[in-house]
Amino acid sequence: MTEEQLDELLSTPSDLLIQDLQSLKGDILILGVGGKMGPSLARLAVKAVKESGQHKKVFGVSRFSDTQLRKDLEATGVITIEADILEDNALEGLPDASNVIYMVGRKFGTSGQEHLTWAMNAYLPGKVAERYKNSKIVVFSSGNIYPMVPVVSGGATENTNPSPIGEYAQSCLGRERVFQYFSHLNKTPMLIYRLNYAVDLRYGNLLEIGEMVKSNMPIDLKVGHMNVIWQGDANEIALRALNKCNFPPEILNVTGPETVSIKWVAKEFGRLFKTTPRFLDTISGDCLLNNASKCHHWFGYPKVSILEMINMTAKWINEGGSKLNKPTHFQETKGNY
Ligand SMILES: NC(=O)c1ccc[n+]([C@@H]2O[C@H](COP(=O)([O-])OP(=O)(O)OC[C@H]3O[C@@H](n4cnc5c(N)ncnc54)[C@H](OP(=O)(O)O)[C@@H]3O)[C@@H](O)[C@H]2O)c1
Repeated sequence: MTEEQLDELLSTPSDLLIQDLQSLKGDILILGVGGKMGPSLARLAVKAVKESGQHKKVFGVSRFSDTQLRKDLEATGVITIEADILEDNALEGLPDASNVIYMVGRKFGTSGQEHLTWAMNAYLPGKVAERYKNSKIVVFSSGNIYPMVPVVSGGATENTNPSPIGEYAQSCLGRERVFQYFSHLNKTPMLIYRLNYAVDLRYGNLLEIGEMVKSNMPIDLKVGHMNVIWQGDANEIALRALNKCNFPPEILNVTGPETVSIKWVAKEFGRLFKTTPRFLDTISGDCLLNNASKCHHWFGYPKVSILEMINMTAKWINEGGSKLNKPTHFQETKGNY
């Protein structure tokens, strides 16, 4: 698969998304479009809007550290705006939009610069919630706000009490709480989207495990299980979630249906690469696992299965496909990022 084909796959809307957009009024504005997920989400939104026969604008806001990305997004119909939204008055200069998807966040580099992470993840949300108090807002958050749970538990549900480990996860809960505060203050409809590991072929847990198997590196199993979801599915859910925003805010876990064994994933890669994976002699304890039954009940099961993701990733690695070089650190258990 070429990178163009991958982008095409990630940005092809389902009939259900196209239908959902028909009942969504107003423009869509994506804050933090320049990251791992934003570009494919923005392209997906543009295509779905077009196929739904509507005339919505799709705005993509970022600092655009990657200038080529801005040109590519413009070429596909996204109206891009370069802004550092943490700066004074930056938000006032942005267009109004009835639908906002909030993807800005800071994770890596937190250790040693905790103040910046808290500003990004917990102070900026207040400014955004005030600026867009008359919009619907889908707030990207993280499954990291939950405690680690036993593998046999079926994963943390939306009713599990948050217990974030480390300052990144704590600041994510801060982001949620600040958005919730402003939702209560202004009656802004919101949905808190708690994501556990989106997977693209260019980054993600599966790529990292596949590369370890291919290069015969031993795999640490102290985190023995995980959840993953194909990024195309995660992005569809984020857009369809605009129709589920509510007051008080809805909470939604977003991930795949399986509690995935990392040992099993490594063995699958081993089968595809015709090699035997090596494992460190570690014992797996509780893991960060989310139960996304509510999400599947609302939107159906993800379209791309775990085996499809593994097969595509193995092929991508074998063919030397491009990588974002943004490791997920999914084996971190102390919350230090
Ligand atoms: N990917 C996952 O598996 C995953 C899992 C759990 C939670 N999440 C959460 O989901 C959200 C989206 O995920 P992602 O992986 O796409 O995140 P990401 O790669 O960190 O992207 C967020 C983007 O926001 C932009 N941004 C940061 N600060 C900004 C500022 N001050 N003004 C304007 N734009 C700014 C950055 O792009 P520029 O450099 O262009 O500004 C950055 O790349 C994040 O909040 C993340 O924490 C993701």
